[in-house]
Amino acid sequence: MRFNVELKRVVDDSYDIEIGHELSDKCVTDIAEGLFGRVKRIAVVTDSNVLPLYAEPIAERLRAAGFDTRVFTIPAGEESKTREMKEFVEDSMLSAGFRRDCAVLAVGGGVVTDLAGFTAGTFGRGVPFANFATTLLAAADASVGGKTAVDTPLATNLIGIFNQPKKVWIDIDTWKTLPRRELASGLSETIKHGCLGDKELFEYLEKNVERVFTCDTEVCEFIAEHNCRVKYDVVMKDEREAGLREVLNLGHTVGRAIETLSGYRLLHGEAVGIGMAAQARLGNKLGFISEENMRRVIALYERAELPVTIPGYIDRKELVRKLYTDKKVRNGKLRFVFEREIGDVVCFGGDKYGMEIAEEQIAAILEEM
Ligand SMILES: NC(=O)c1ccc[n+]([C@@H]2O[C@H](COP(=O)([O-])OP(=O)(O)OC[C@H]3O[C@@H](n4cnc5c(N)ncnc54)[C@H](O)[C@@H]3O)[C@@H](O)[C@H]2O)c1
Repeated sequence: MRFNVELKRVVDDSYDIEIGHELSDKCVTDIAEGLFGRVKRIAVVTDSNVLPLYAEPIAERLRAAGFDTRVFTIPAGEESKTREMKEFVEDSMLSAGFRRDCAVLAVGGGVVTDLAGFTAGTFGRGVPFANFATTLLAAADASVGGKTAVDTPLATNLIGIFNQPKKVWIDIDTWKTLPRRELASGLSETIKHGCLGDKELFEYLEKNVERVFTCDTEVCEFIAEHNCRVKYDVVMKDEREAGLREVLNLGHTVGRAIETLSGYRLLHGEAVGIGMAAQARLGNKLGFISEENMRRVIALYERAELPVTIPGYIDRKELVRKLYTDKKVRNGKLRFVFEREIGDVVCFGGDKYGMEIAEEQIAAILEEM
């Protein structure tokens, strides 16, 4: 006997991204007006730095609005983006009596939004979640697009799910409390977006990059908007990374490997800066980007106070081996995404954006760096 379990799904995962100033009240109003349907219990997930700054004030307002709200806090830093910490949040939520009738509100940077989004996706087989992004990096990249994950000792982001939030609030005012090094880290993904799909953004940054460090309102609004546009344009066309979404991986083949090998001494954006310099150098050798534009890319990263060379403590041979943990590896072969000059990527036919690269080709570049 054979049964056919017919389960066709039509899914509408659309959501709003709101960019603005002092959005905490708006976040609470949206939830009070039914963002999570009839849910009355909210698990606010945050980290130890963001807790007093933004998470606790938001939780207070949610309580005042009648929501049974608890805050679950992880220690700040990439070291917390683990399966163990996900388990800690889940167990804490269970102990606090949370079941399927709750929603998760992530308040923080990319570590928090990645971990909380993944947790929400598996807690009680899935509860709704939303992201209140408090770093430039989360605003530029992590909080938007629905990729959620945790790191493993082998490499970053290897275990996770696609899970779209109900809403993302990008509160530019929160960047004012960010350490300078974190602003630079967020600029890394911003410059990447300029390189892969927004020449106007790249040229704007060439004129204004230093003004990001003073949190100049006009500049921050400009980059927040352009970042979102680049990211959601790609995600709307290829949510599950069947092809085009790989372009968002520009600079990440080398970047992720270095991030892991540095033992997280390098921030995500810093590692991506080195990865972007590597792809530009290799791209120049392969004829995808001129010498002049390659230099412009590297110079902009340097002005954004990001590293563009490999630290001495990273073993080059180990780095080459680590490249094979990249998600783009197919049939044991390394694949790279390349920018075409500034503001575009190289397409290798159809929706193929990754190019097979021989180990010696990239090893030679890494030796130079
Ligand atoms: N899901 C995706 O598509 C995607 C894309 C890019 C990056 N990421 C992930 O994002 C993570 C990096 O994100 P991140 O740079 O935001 O890291 P993060 O969340 O660790 O935040 C950086 C630091 O800033 C602190 N902080 C956060 N907001 C603050 C504020 N407003 N004021 C003062 N301090 C604040 C945090 O406590 C932390 O110490 C990485 O894990 C990376 O893999 C995910």
